[in-house]
Amino acid sequence: KIEGPPALTLYQAPGTRIYCRGAQILMQDAIDNLEVYPEDVWVITYPKCGTTWTQEIVWLVCNNADTETANAVELDTRFPFFEYPFINRRPTIRKMPSPRLIKTHLALPVLPYQIVEKKPKIIYTMRNPKDTCVSMYHFIKMLTPFNYKGNFEEFAKEFFMGVTVGHGSFWDHHRDYWRLKDEMNILILKYEDLITDLAKEVKKIAAFLDKELTEEQVQTIVEHCTFKTMKNNSASNQSHMQNIGFTRAGMGDFMRKGKIGDWKNYFTPELNNMVDQLNKKYLEPEGLTFDYE
Ligand code: A3P
Repeated sequence: KIEGPPALTLYQAPGTRIYCRGAQILMQDAIDNLEVYPEDVWVITYPKCGTTWTQEIVWLVCNNADTETANAVELDTRFPFFEYPFINRRPTIRKMPSPRLIKTHLALPVLPYQIVEKKPKIIYTMRNPKDTCVSMYHFIKMLTPFNYKGNFEEFAKEFFMGVTVGHGSFWDHHRDYWRLKDEMNILILKYEDLITDLAKEVKKIAAFLDKELTEEQVQTIVEHCTFKTMKNNSASNQSHMQNIGFTRAGMGDFMRKGKIGDWKNYFTPELNNMVDQLNKKYLEPEGLTFDYE
């Protein structure tokens, strides 16, 4: 059970790298100075953009579509969460055998220093801001350390201003990584593309990671990674978060809807207009657009 202050927040103070408050887990030094290897595979996302889904696919691509192990061993153990090691009770990332698979939500300016020079493989999954916001609202209400009581509209305004959630602004996070899309060691994916044609995206990931998969293995991965199958799989549905007191019972499931377009059930016309304007300001000039239905 997690004790301590109600907020679990990572702030990036101006001109500094990172400042952790709340359930403080990793010291700044441990983030900054992690030894990085070129063979590492990092799945990086803004929270609620399809992290878990991408992790499961990447793990299977890297492990010959071994669904037996994927069903038996918790995803957070196979594919640890860099900045919150208490969630997965894993041995430290430093001791993992190479090639290491690592998940993080860290924004680009606060990644470990060696990422720049060692150039590990990075897979960054994006999601449209409207569905991300709805997904985050439900998730934050589940999280014990946040104890969030606001309504959706209050939450959405804070979310789009980059507060409430501990990983800074959705806009900066997406824009910073998107600007690296032409780097050889970076693959950008979109949640909406995973929904539309999962087999195509699995093959794209395999090609990026230099893994050869048979057509049968691709199909195995697709079937294992459908929303329904993952929701029913206790090794990948994040249900362990409740066991350790990180999420509250009766507040819904981590694997919630898994759809494009749920935002339409929540957004007022004003909020929709606000997000369209922010999109125009921050992402569209960069050539970054999303599907919304
Ligand atoms: P919803 O809340 O919209 O359902 P993350 O892993 O980054 O926290 O993202 C969680 C979101 O991804 C949730 O979205 C969850 O349902 C969705 N998700 C996880 N696995 C999925 C899958 N196999 N297919 C579709 N969506 C999935």
